Amino acid sequence: MKNYITTPIYYVNGEAHIGHAYTTFIADTLARYSRLQGNETYLLTGTDEHGQKIEESAQKQNKPTQQFADEISATFRNLWDEFNISYDQFIRTTDETHKKGVQAAFLKMFENGDIYKDFYEGNYCVSCETFFPESQLMDGGCCPDCGRATSIVKEESYFFRLSKYERPLLEYYEAHPEFILPKSRRNEVISFVRGGLNDLSVTRTSFSWGVHLPESLNEPKHVMYVWLDALMNYVTALGYGSDETKMNFWPANVQLVGKDILRFHAIYWPAFLMSLGLPLPKHIAAHGWWTRDGEKMSKSKGNVVDPREVSSHYGVENFRYFMMREVPFGQDGDFSQRALIDRMNSDLSNDLGNLLNRIIGMSEKYSDFRIDSCDVEKYHSKELNDANAIIDTLHPYLYELQLHRFLEELWKLFSIGNKAIEEHAPWVKIKEGRTDEALATVALVANLLAKASVMLHAVMPNTTSTIADALGFEITTESYTSLILNKTLLAPFNIKKIPPLFPRVEEPLMTEAPKAMVDEAPKAEPKPAMEDKKVSTVSEEGLITIDQFFQTSIKIGTVLDAEEVPKSSKLLKLKVDLGEESPRQIVAGIREYYSAESLINTQVCVVANLKPAKLMGLLSEGMILAAKDADGLCLVRPEKPRQSGSSVG
Ligand code: MSP
Repeated sequence: MKNYITTPIYYVNGEAHIGHAYTTFIADTLARYSRLQGNETYLLTGTDEHGQKIEESAQKQNKPTQQFADEISATFRNLWDEFNISYDQFIRTTDETHKKGVQAAFLKMFENGDIYKDFYEGNYCVSCETFFPESQLMDGGCCPDCGRATSIVKEESYFFRLSKYERPLLEYYEAHPEFILPKSRRNEVISFVRGGLNDLSVTRTSFSWGVHLPESLNEPKHVMYVWLDALMNYVTALGYGSDETKMNFWPANVQLVGKDILRFHAIYWPAFLMSLGLPLPKHIAAHGWWTRDGEKMSKSKGNVVDPREVSSHYGVENFRYFMMREVPFGQDGDFSQRALIDRMNSDLSNDLGNLLNRIIGMSEKYSDFRIDSCDVEKYHSKELNDANAIIDTLHPYLYELQLHRFLEELWKLFSIGNKAIEEHAPWVKIKEGRTDEALATVALVANLLAKASVMLHAVMPNTTSTIADALGFEITTESYTSLILNKTLLAPFNIKKIPPLFPRVEEPLMTEAPKAMVDEAPKAEPKPAMEDKKVSTVSEEGLITIDQFFQTSIKIGTVLDAEEVPKSSKLLKLKVDLGEESPRQIVAGIREYYSAESLINTQVCVVANLKPAKLMGLLSEGMILAAKDADGLCLVRPEKPRQSGSSVG
């Protein structure tokens, strides 16, 4: 199957921000997944370089327009290369083949009567390259999209008969409910079209930085409207109007756009295609905006977050995972370092990373790193079936662009793994001599991690390749077919001892939050007198503030070793890993309730910032939390395994 996926082409009037990175990450994810499935896939991205806005930006910098466009276009391309975006082509609207293709399309539309010459007079916004009817202008005649002043422009213009396509478009939307994604956006487009479509001015004489009309029309004053020029990139990239060998990738499967440019893609673009006699793309998928302080982030507002800065501090794949997991496709999201850190610590470090570390540790101890799936089906058929059933549900989420759901469901595999370790406690089985069972649990988890890595590969390509390498296989269409489609298990292998892939992040890593990065809680306003009073009443009642609570550092510890303290009926001496350089020695009065053996490899909550004390002459470097009532004492433990050293709070 052929699968063509496109991003919008980005304006070269400023450098990339996280909104651009978001679209590109999603497109890259879809393309990578498609390739993994063995589809012939083509991913297109590029830059939109014509129009008055670009001409003006270049003039401001005293640069020839082409040089200016070359420089900014290169920054996009370099960024996508740094971000490992697997594009098959990076198109520029200043490419000669593109210009030739746009001219061919214009001529075809002209010859079939869809383009005609007339005069245009209207309110034009230079920044948005759009004419707006009087009724849509804001106070003072300002642009309804960017708020800047518009100016009245009267000029000779060629028009595209958009009005002719009103009915065909409505019929198309009706017959193809999946054309516009998410479906919530479909109604918006339909009611816009129902409101009536005016013919569209598709040439300008007020500036010259654009594609000229075909020579045969002999109209040297006119250049093409930038949206006609830009939209055509999706087919000129495949050779429309020049060498058409790649045109068999058309129609595109998914064309990703931001919600602000949906109108151009869901109305103008299909109308142009109908006029050219080309089939329409399967999906136009519109995502939401990344905001700052709830406001749209955009180059024209100058409030952008630099994606390179985010990636250099947090890692591009963590950043990419965060963007896709955090916000349901189509909805707006607010970027914050705190949210990114939380995702990294909980999903990546605790759920995924910790599981991998645990099986590396166990197989080192129990089987000299050897993992064999031979007994997994015997002891863990339920877990395997559950995992395979979850995997079977994942595929449609990707194609409906519900990436957050895809990832959410995928993460259930790690829960199955963690639960299996807790329930089957391989360390107990080893002690009881039930080695086969213990090793089967370890192998189960290895297989869950392998399958999850394959499914996660499109989102985190390098990270998952490292995991796969540790698990003795490579992520390819073949391994996708066997592990995912045919539900096979890993062949016997020696697991590699790799350093933790997702070290926890405690504090924001970007020393200074970039200008546009909203993060942490909003700065506290000075408290009104009334509230101050309230605080002091509260503390009189014996309550503490959150700050006081956080003076106590409670951490998750993993018990590495435990032994009885000689001559004491109550004390056990534990070695507890708190994620520090060396484990701590903690002496705890729990011997009446727990045997030393039963504690090994389990997790506990530790007060980590207590002054060390001596008990029966032994140094104790922390206190273990426990609850006691008439029935006895029990330890307070995390519900699911957490990385050693995780904060409790
Ligand atoms: N050049 C046009 C697209 C032509 S496609 C034939 C354009 N360029 S753009 O650089 O302004 O925007 C490109 C994409 O980035 C659009 O999909 C837009 O929605 C997206 N974003 C711009 N700001 C954004 C955010 N703040 N958040 C998310 N995406 C945003 O439009």
